[in-house]
Amino acid sequence: MKRPIAIIGGSGVKSILKGEQRIIGTPYGPTPNLTIGEIDGRPAVFLPRHGEFHSSPPHRVNYRASIWGLKNLGIERIIATNAVGAIDQQLSPGEIVIPMDLVDFTKSRIGTFYDGSPVTHIDVSQPYCPREREVLAASATAAGKAAPRDVVMACTEGPRYETPAEIKMLRTMGCHIVGMTGAPEVFLARELEMCYASISFVSNMAAGLQRTLSAREVEEKGRETSQVLNKILASAISRMPESRKDCPCGTALSHAQLKKDIVEAAQ
Ligand code: HPA
Repeated sequence: MKRPIAIIGGSGVKSILKGEQRIIGTPYGPTPNLTIGEIDGRPAVFLPRHGEFHSSPPHRVNYRASIWGLKNLGIERIIATNAVGAIDQQLSPGEIVIPMDLVDFTKSRIGTFYDGSPVTHIDVSQPYCPREREVLAASATAAGKAAPRDVVMACTEGPRYETPAEIKMLRTMGCHIVGMTGAPEVFLARELEMCYASISFVSNMAAGLQRTLSAREVEEKGRETSQVLNKILASAISRMPESRKDCPCGTALSHAQLKKDIVEAAQ
C-alpha cells in the first residue's frame, strides 16, 4: 500500500476527495477535520487549513497540530494550496504559480517544534521540496496551465491585507506574491522531514495595484480557479514518486543538531 499524500486546502479550496472524516489529537491540540480517502486509487488526505467551516484566521491557525497530525498518519508528502495577491504586475488574477522561496514577515506564530533541547537549526536553502515542485509544474503543463516557478512569496501576518507602502517594500525586497499562510507551515514540515511544496492561485492584485481588496473576491477567485487547480492536484498526486531519494527533505535533521558529545561536554 502506498503512503498517503496530503493536500492542505487554503482559502476557497474544497476537498477533492471523499472518505472518512477524522480529527487527530496531537501534543499541540486537535487537527482540523481531515478527509481520508483516495484520488485515482492513491491514498490521500485533505486538511482544510482554516478548519471545516473556515473559522481560524491565518494568524490563529494551529500549524503545529496540522503538520504533526499529518506526520502521525504516516504522511511524508504535502502539497499546500494558498490564495495570494500578485505583487509582480506580470502576474494577474486567475494565474497559478509554484513558489520557489519565501520571506517570512509573520509576527506572532510559533514557528518551530524545537523549542528546547536538542537545539535544532533546520536548513531551508531549498524551502520547498524540489521534486514536488517539478511534479507540480509537469502537472500544471499537462492541465494546459503555464505555472510560473521563479516566484518568491511574502508571508504577512494578517488578518488585514497590506498597505500599498508595504507592498512597495515587498516588491523592492524581491517578492512576487503575498499571502498569509505560507509560514510557518513550510518550515514545520521540514523540521519533521516531510516533503512540502505549494501551489498558489492569484486571487487579486496586491494593495495599491487595484482600487480595493475584498475577502469575497478572494473566495470567488478560489471558486473560479478550483476546477483547474483540482485537476493539477489530482494529476500531481498520481505522478508523485513514492521514493524520496531525489530531495533533501527526508534527511533534514541529519545535520541540523549539534553533535551529542559537544552538548554533553558542555553540561
Ligand atoms: N495579501 C495577503 N494575503 C492574500 C492576498 C493579499 O493580497 N490575497 C489573498 N491572500
